[in-house]
Amino acid sequence: MSNSTYWKQRLKKHGHTGWGNAAVYVFDQKYRLDVIKKFILDNFSKVATALDYGCGVGDFAKCLSPNIERIVAVDIDQSILDVAKVNNSADNIDYISQDDFFKIGKDSFDLIYTVTVLQHVTNKEDLLSLIEKFNELLKKNGHLLVYESFSNKNGQSFYQRTQSVAEWERIFSELFYVKYKIITRKSFEDFKSEFLAFQRKPAVRMLSRISNIVGGGIANRICLSWLKILLPKQLKFELRASHGDIESGMVLLVMEKRNV
Ligand SMILES: C[S@@+](CC[C@H](N)C(=O)[O-])C[C@H]1O[C@@H](n2cnc3c(N)ncnc32)[C@H](O)[C@@H]1O
Repeated sequence: MSNSTYWKQRLKKHGHTGWGNAAVYVFDQKYRLDVIKKFILDNFSKVATALDYGCGVGDFAKCLSPNIERIVAVDIDQSILDVAKVNNSADNIDYISQDDFFKIGKDSFDLIYTVTVLQHVTNKEDLLSLIEKFNELLKKNGHLLVYESFSNKNGQSFYQRTQSVAEWERIFSELFYVKYKIITRKSFEDFKSEFLAFQRKPAVRMLSRISNIVGGGIANRICLSWLKILLPKQLKFELRASHGDIESGMVLLVMEKRNV
């Protein structure tokens, strides 16, 4: 199965490309959207142009669109882009194909962000050439923000590679230097009690179950919207760095282009 076929199938099954369990997806995606948006707004004074690489159904592009003048969002699969254009459109977002992505000229973006995508580029050469392309596409002093899984036990399945934080850093080190490195658990693990309280609510259990049964259509979208309404209101969404060693989790690397 090609990478693109895998993601197309996930879209068909779940209506998006995130976690298969609807309660986990809703909880974790809300956390990711909030903390990454807050991070960008707090740390970058003005972002005129951004590239969302591996945009999925466009959750991040839509969430960031009020704060960034122009966002170009690209994905490997056209059916995913088609859903993004319907569910998450905005005047300043251009959803483009992988072919069009490779035609973009040098020095086009102030910021490139990519959320849980590079871990799925299983071929090392493809990954390195992608990072070179990011370097070329970024303007002088441009930033690359990467949020990926890490694991100290290396391994690879057909759709995902896992590597340690040090290995992630090493891959970028020739072209980028790390300005911020934040290591977290997966949010539903970090916010364990809040997440379990959410997941145990009868309405959440019922909606998750229905979402699993109905597949990726309109009924699923309705379930996901209701699940979002049921999210805990009091949860303080902050990027909480983990204390102590953890074997696996998520790492946010924010890097600046080496201007050599
Ligand atoms: C786990 S989803 C993340 C989607 C989105 N970034 C988000 O966080 O909501 C991974 C996405 O990356 C896309 N993808 C996988 N490999 C890719 C590649 N080589 N180039 C571009 N997109 C890719 C998939 O189609 C899928 O939409």
